[in-house]
Amino acid sequence: MLAIIGGSGLTQLASLEVTRREVVRTPYGEPSASLTFGRIGTQEVVFLARHGHGHSIPPHRVNYRANLWALVHAAKATGIVSVASVGGIRSDLGTGKLVVPHQIIDYTWGRPATFYDGGESPVIHVDFTEPYDRSLRERLLCAGDAIGVPLSGAAVYATTQGPRLESAAEINRLERDGADIVGMTGMPEAVLARELETPYAAICAVANWAAGRGDSANAIAFEKIEAVLQESLGQVRRVIEHLCADTP
Ligand code: HPA
Repeated sequence: MLAIIGGSGLTQLASLEVTRREVVRTPYGEPSASLTFGRIGTQEVVFLARHGHGHSIPPHRVNYRANLWALVHAAKATGIVSVASVGGIRSDLGTGKLVVPHQIIDYTWGRPATFYDGGESPVIHVDFTEPYDRSLRERLLCAGDAIGVPLSGAAVYATTQGPRLESAAEINRLERDGADIVGMTGMPEAVLARELETPYAAICAVANWAAGRGDSANAIAFEKIEAVLQESLGQVRRVIEHLCADTP
């Protein structure tokens, strides 16, 4: 079972032949939305809209623990592909580019970020040297290659708290830290998947130049973002379809 967490602009997957929807309760409360089960080709897929069906849950209020728990324990996902929109920092990662990041930096705060939260459970420190699953990343990159959708295969994803966008100085700092793209939902999603020992990778659509860069030099033009995202997410869907078609 492959799980797909859809972000802004991707609240459903047209190619998914839906078989059922399920409302799941978890020890951590309610996931962002009901789980949608179905098939793409022969691959069983479960889809979850990260921000809810009506896109009403802001990044800092997403119940990441409930979402991950539901996908892994209720839906039995054995791999998770996260789809997210990001701002581009690195000069070759402008609006419209698609990126499969290989590293992450966490600037979020106040989000429940572990399943090992004291109580009865022993203290566990998971290894997070490589935050994304190498083989799932490679499968995404191969799928892009196979259908001629260019994917940038190495980028450091900075996760900011949001929901506001960054100041230009903050983006400069992120760049000095080594970040190439910036989004608001990469963490704690990635680490919770790791705690559940489930391969996790992300495919990110650059929706805008980050603050102070490119055509965001003076402000971010929100009115342009929607059209760009729709175009990019069309390509993301094709990559995911190919990934599913290629699953043995
Ligand atoms: N910053 C943070 N998150 C984002 C951005 C951005 O510029 N664009 C899309 N998600």
